[in-house]
Amino acid sequence: MRSHAEVGRGGHPCRNSGTLTESAHATIFHMKKTIPLIVGNWKCNPVTELHAVALAVAVVKAHQKAETPYVAIAPTALHSAAVAKKLTSSPITLAAQNVSSFAVGAHTGEQSAAQLKDGGVELVIIGHSERRAAGETDVEVSAKVQATLAGKLIPIVCIGEKKRDTNGNFFTEVETQIRSFATELAPAQLKKVVIAYEPIWAIGTGETATNDDVKEMQLFIESILTKIHDRPTAQSVRLLYGGSVKPHNAAELHRVGGMGGFLVGGASLKAADFSAICKAVI
Ligand code: 13P
Repeated sequence: MRSHAEVGRGGHPCRNSGTLTESAHATIFHMKKTIPLIVGNWKCNPVTELHAVALAVAVVKAHQKAETPYVAIAPTALHSAAVAKKLTSSPITLAAQNVSSFAVGAHTGEQSAAQLKDGGVELVIIGHSERRAAGETDVEVSAKVQATLAGKLIPIVCIGEKKRDTNGNFFTEVETQIRSFATELAPAQLKKVVIAYEPIWAIGTGETATNDDVKEMQLFIESILTKIHDRPTAQSVRLLYGGSVKPHNAAELHRVGGMGGFLVGGASLKAADFSAICKAVI
C-alpha cells in the first residue's frame, strides 16, 4: 500500500449541493515528496469574507496545474467554508490554522479534526509559534498531532527557536520540540507528518535564515528523527521552511535549503507574491 507521504493522487470528499462527493481536487494524502509543497498561512487575515474569497479565487487562477508545486492555503476558521467552495474544482488544498485535541463534545470554541475534514480541510497547522506564544505547550501540540492523525488529516507541526546563540543552544530547543511529539508516534504515523521549521526571529521580520542555516537545520531535524526511529522514516518526513519567505529569496532558499517546500505568511496575502514563490520552486 502506498503511504500518505508518497505517490499517487486521489479525490477528496467535499460538500456539493448537500451531498458528499469526490471532487477533482488533488489530495494531499498522496503527495510525492519530490514535489514541493507551498502552504499559505493567512493567519488572522483578511478582515472580510469578501476579501478572503477574492484572494482564494486569485490563488486558484494562478495555479491550475496539480503538481507545480502542491499548493495549500489556510484561511481563518470563519472564512474556511467560503474559501473551500472556491477550491473544489482546483488542485489547491484547504488547510486549517489550528485543531482541537478533542474529538467531540463540550469544548467551547474548539474545532475537531472530524469537523475540519467534513469542511474539506486536509492539512492542519499545529503549534505555530504565535499559538505557542499564547500559551500552547509541547504537550498540547503532541495531543493535537495525535487527534489530527486519528482524524485522517495531515499535521504540519511548527517548530523553531526563539533566537540564535553562538553556542548552538537553539538546536536543543528545536530537538525538544521535535521529541515531544515525534517520540509519541510510530514510524508509519510519523511519515504522515509534515514538520515546518520556522525560526521565530525570522517570522514577519524580513530577516530570513540563510540558505546554509536552513540546510543545516534540515540535516539536523533528519538526524533527530533518525535517532528517534530510523533513517528511512526520517527521510520520508516532509520538512518545510517558514520565516520571511518572499519572491526574491524563495528560489535560493529552496535550492540550497533542501526543504520540501515553504510555509508562507505575509507573502501569501498577495496572490502575485504567493504565485511567484510557488513558481520559484519549480
Ligand atoms: P512570514 O512569511 O510573514 O514571515 O510568516 C511565516 C509564518 O509564520 C508562516 O506560518
